[in-house]
Formats: sequence, C-alpha cells, structure tokens
Amino acid sequence: MTIDTAPGKIILFGEHAVVYGQPAIAAPLSHVRAYAVVKNNPNPGIRLIAPDLGSDILLSDADTDDAIAAVVTQLQKAANIQELPDLTITVSSQIPIASGLGSGAAIAAAVIRALAVHLGLGYLLTDEWVSDQTYEIEKIHHGTPSGIDNTVVAYERPVYFVRHQPRNHIEPFAVAKPLRLLVADTGIRSSTKDVVGDVRRQWELDSSTFNTIFESCGRIANTARQALEAGDVAQIGQLMTENHALLQKMSVSEPKLDRLVEVALAAGALGAKLSGAGRGGNMIALVTDDVETAVSTALLSANAKNILTTTILPTKNFPPQGG
Ligand code: MEV
Repeated sequence: MTIDTAPGKIILFGEHAVVYGQPAIAAPLSHVRAYAVVKNNPNPGIRLIAPDLGSDILLSDADTDDAIAAVVTQLQKAANIQELPDLTITVSSQIPIASGLGSGAAIAAAVIRALAVHLGLGYLLTDEWVSDQTYEIEKIHHGTPSGIDNTVVAYERPVYFVRHQPRNHIEPFAVAKPLRLLVADTGIRSSTKDVVGDVRRQWELDSSTFNTIFESCGRIANTARQALEAGDVAQIGQLMTENHALLQKMSVSEPKLDRLVEVALAAGALGAKLSGAGRGGNMIALVTDDVETAVSTALLSANAKNILTTTILPTKNFPPQGG
C-alpha cells in the first residue's frame, strides 16, 4: 500500500494577472491536504474510490473528464507504461472544493505521487515533474491555467511565479518573518474555469484597461516579494488590500468577499483580499497576535462559513514528501 499527499494553497498576490504573464505569489496551506492511497486490487481492473463524493467506479467505466481517471491516464502516458496492474486508488481531501484553495491540483498531485511510488517510479518524482503532470490535469479542468496552482502544491513552498514559454519562471523563496493569515470561506462555490473565462472576455473587449490593471497587479507582486523577504509585515498587508481593489476592478470580487475584507480591516487586520479565482471561495486576512481573535470574531459575525488559520513560516515547516 502506498499513501501520499499534497497541500492546499492560497494566492497571496497576483491571481488572474498571472494568466497574462504578470508575476504572482502563492503559498501552501500545509495543514489542509489531499491524500491518495494506492493498493493492489485482488480483482481485475483499476478501481477509483472517492468516499467524500460517494464515488466508486472502475477506470474502464470512467468518463474522460473524471478527475482521478484523468490523473491515472496522464501518469500512464508520461511514464510510458503499456499496461497498468490491477489497483485500488482511494482519494480523500480536507480541502473544500471550488473555493480557491487548490483542491483539484492537490488531489492530482497526491495521486501522481502515490501511484508513481506504488509502480516503482518514485525516481521520477521531482517537484518539477509532479507539477508538470498536475498542470496537464489542470488544463482539462480549468482551460487556460497559468500553472501557479500546480507549482505551489507540488513544491509546497511559497513561490514567486511568472508564466513563461517554454518554461515558467519559478522561484521558491522563504519569508523573513512568520505571516499569520486567516482564511475565511464565503460559503459560495465558484468555478475557476468560468471566472478565468469571464476575465478573458472582458480583456478581449477592453484590453487596454485590463492590461493596465494586470500590470498594476504585477508591480504589487514584485513589491510584495521584496516586503516578504524583508519581513515588512505592515507593507505586505497594505499591498494585499491594494491587490483586492484591483481584483474588484476586474469584477472577480462579489459582495460577500468585499464585506469580509471590509470587516477584517475594520477589526484591525493589516491587509485583506480575496484569494484564488474569486466570485466566491475564500478571502485571506493578515493578522498579528493582538488582533487575531477580533478579526476572526468579526469575520464570523459577517457570516464567514469557516475560518482556517495558517502561518507561513520563514523555513520549510512540513513533513518530507513521498518519492
Ligand atoms: C487560481 O488559483 C488562480 C488564477 O489566477 C487562475 C490561474 O492562475 O490559473 C485565477
């Protein structure tokens, strides 16, 4: 039996603009994870089980867009495996789906890692390889993903990312001071593919306005990178709030996200913004110890459905990954 895992993620700076070549910064949510368990199947076939979704099917019966089936097929292709053995693959996840926290990418990365190890292909498992395979799956579900989500869940480190041909520019980096973040769920589910598609339609109609917004997001991400590496927590917060204003201009925020950002700031958060594709999903608020309880209480009174807390630490603070 082989078990492996991958984390959720938050986008700290630059979502959407990153699709258009601007820099962005993301960080793993290491305590909220997806898991994959691979076993030999005593019966013929490859059984794909997702207990959270009440799903238990054979690969041979799966739709072509089935999330787990697509991962198995991708790995088979990438590793050039003629015939797979009989297997049972069980997937579970603590990451809420369709909420901007990278659940699809984490599930794909966990299955890729567990399956590769189980098949004796662990030597393939560099973070870069896992990220590349996960990207192929993201393309099926999200249309034109930038590649930042698969990168951060595979590297499991804060990353500065620029979409680039033929290879993306990926710089894992360490923050200088711990960053305490509250991740508050609006309870509204949204499809990354739809929101990214809608931004594209708006960009096609008014590319000059949108390019200006995207460039401002890129400038914020670059300044934020310096602030993160210098440990200037106040500036990081301010830049988050500025980034949220630009996301509002792209029309990817919505009233509940705006309300949660407002109450977090009023309760003393250093900065707040939506995180991920928007139109629902989660917002993040940067807090200090002094204001954490007040901000959390304010978010709950404004009807946040769930609040996760996470600390981005100056060093890598997570268990080693399989491989
Ligand atoms: C989603 O986590 C981030 C977006 O920028 C889409 C992408 O980068 O592929 C909205």
